[in-house]
Formats: sequence, structure tokens, C-alpha cells
Amino acid sequence: MSQLSLSWLGLWPVAASPWLLLLLVGASWLLAHVLAWTYAFYDNCRRLRCFPQPPRRNWFWGHQGMLPLHQRTSSSTASWSPGWRFRRACRLVHDFTDAVIQERRRTLPSQGVDDFLQAKAKSKTLDFIDVLLLSKDEDGKKLSDEDIRAEADTFMFEGHDTTASGLSWVLYHLAKHPEYQERCRQEVQELLKDREPKEIEWDDLAHLPFLTMCMKESLRLHPPVPVISRHVTQDIVLPDGRVIPKGIICLISVFGTHHNPAVWPDPEVYDPFRFDPENIKERSPLAFIPFSAGPRNCIGQTFAMAEMKVVLALTLLRFRVLPDHTEPRRKPELVLRAEGGLWLRVEPLS
Ligand code: HEM
Repeated sequence: MSQLSLSWLGLWPVAASPWLLLLLVGASWLLAHVLAWTYAFYDNCRRLRCFPQPPRRNWFWGHQGMLPLHQRTSSSTASWSPGWRFRRACRLVHDFTDAVIQERRRTLPSQGVDDFLQAKAKSKTLDFIDVLLLSKDEDGKKLSDEDIRAEADTFMFEGHDTTASGLSWVLYHLAKHPEYQERCRQEVQELLKDREPKEIEWDDLAHLPFLTMCMKESLRLHPPVPVISRHVTQDIVLPDGRVIPKGIICLISVFGTHHNPAVWPDPEVYDPFRFDPENIKERSPLAFIPFSAGPRNCIGQTFAMAEMKVVLALTLLRFRVLPDHTEPRRKPELVLRAEGGLWLRVEPLS
């Protein structure tokens, strides 16, 4: 058998057989993979540490949800100082947004910006981040990276937990009301019956009326943003003569507005037919304000409704959702969550 010399590698002046060489290559491959796995594991742990974690000694059971709630949450507050966790969480958020901005910056042209923007606007693919990256003020100065990041952060995070909360509560209501769930599923099946692959197109969104009614009723009962605030800039006289004086900060309860029995009879009952086009005619548009109202309302509401419709339609097409054994308890924070998470059971449809 021929001998191969490894001396050219400068490692050692030995002659190796092809088997030895193969072994060396195999060992290097294994080492490279072990290093890559270790790094990926370390990286994951580093990222996940920003979120409340179960106690380390009960890590496995905690993640399976098999620890009592107080044990699951206490360690996260006891062992990490809030400031430290806050800074880590901010860093994680900023690193993520920075990466998105840098990636997008690489693909943008330095010349012919106006043509580029017009072409994108025409093909309906103009993204907000492109507009930010390419915009200039009156003096021709571009936005700083920090300004862009602040705007991008607002969009990413105004749009994330809110939609997650909205989706979770709709699925919860559909799980509790299998008859509505089935009707939504039939609507989606009918819409996509001759279609392969089963994907939702932009124009389909207007053809899911019952699903939309179910979503709206869920946003009424469980508005993802339960409270909003406003700084009063002028005296406001209420119909009964009382005055909200200029200069104070008002809290407006979206949740309360959506549960007003004078407008919503049996407010705690989940009834999608409240949003039947026939039934909304007489109601004030300000009776239903999950996305707020007025000039500072939610800029992403059309996107949010579209996103939720797509997720729900494709989920219902593939799965049946069933309620969990324990009833969730509302946990109003900045976003309306459920204590200990909102748990549902999911069955694949054959
Ligand atoms: C179900 C999902 C969503 C709900 C319930 C929701 C709700 C709201 C509400 C109530 C406000 C107004 C806050 C106020 O009046 O003080 C708001 C503002 C805002 N939302 Fe949403 N939102 C959702 C999804 C999104 C998405 C997907 C985006 C972006 C892609 C987004 C971006 C924004 C932004 C940028 C503002 C601030 C607007 C301003 O201050 O002028 N939201 N949202």
C-alpha cells in the first residue's frame, strides 16, 4: 500500500497510510462539529437567559410545565437582578434589530435611490425599513443608525407580543367553541379547495368573513392592549358637564370599553355574531377600539389582522384546537397575557 507523507503540512515528518489520513480527517470533522454544537448550545443558552427561566436544578421539569407556578417564576426574580436582566434583554433586542438593519443596508443601492423606491412602491414591496434607510431630512442628512434602530424596535416589538396575545386568545375562544371553530375551518377549506399548495394570498383575506368575525369578537373580549394613555392638551368637557383638565395623563380602558354592558349585552359571552355586518350598523365605531382610535392609533392594524388571519386559517386547516383542563386567568400587563401562559391542546387533522 502506498504511503503518503504529511511533512508538507509542517506537522511532523512522518509518513502516514491512507487509513491514518482518513482517521485524521474524521477526527477533524468530529472536532469541528463538537465545537459548532458547543457554540450553538452556548449561544442558545445566552439568548434564552434573557427570559424568565425555571430554577436551574429543576430545569427539565420546569420546562415541561411540571413545577408549581410559584417555583417556576420565583427563581427568575430571585437570582437575577432586574437591572442586569433588563440590560441583557435590551442588548438582545438591539442586536437583533441591528442585524436586520445591517443586512438590509447591504442590499440597498447607493445611487438611483428615487428610481429604486418608485420601483419597489410599484411592485408593492416597499418596506418601511427601506424608507427609513433611504430617507433624508431637509438638509440632505440621513437618519442616524440609532434613529433607525429606535423606529425599527418600535415596529418589531409593538407588532410582536400584541399579535401573539391576539392569536392566543382567538385560538382559546375557538377551542372553547368547537362549533365556531368548525365553521371557520369549513370557510378556509372552501376557499382553498382547488389550491395546491394550500397558501393564503393577499386577495383571499377579504374572503374569510366568519373567521374575521371570530377574531374581532376575541379582540373585544381580550384586547391585547387593555389600556392606553393620553396626555390631555386642552380641557375636555364631558357630556355630563364634568371637565378633564388640561395637563393630566388619562388612562383609557380598552378592556372596560369592550365590556360596557350598555353597548355589549352579556359582555362576557363570546358571540362572533356581534360583528355580523347587520349588527354593527347601529354601534359607535368607538365602542370597539382594540387598535385605539384617532391620529395615534395602531399603524400596523391592517398588517396585524392579515397576519392573524393567515396564521389562524393555516392552523385550522391542519389542526383541531381543544381547551386545556385548567381555565386561564387574565394577566393584564402592557399586553394582555394569561397567568402561567395560555395552554391549549392540539390534534392534527387526518
Ligand atoms: C393584534 C395586534 C395589535 C394590536 C392589538 C395593536 C394595538 C395597538 C394600540 C392599541 C396602539 C395605540 C397605543 C396608543 O394609542 O397609545 C398601537 C400603536 C402602535 N402599533 Fe399596534 N397593535 C397590534 C399590532 C401591531 C403591528 C403588527 C405593528 C407593526 C407592524 C404595530 C405597530 C404599532 C405602532 C408603530 C404603534 C404606535 C403608533 C403611534 O404612536 O403613532 N402594531 N397598537
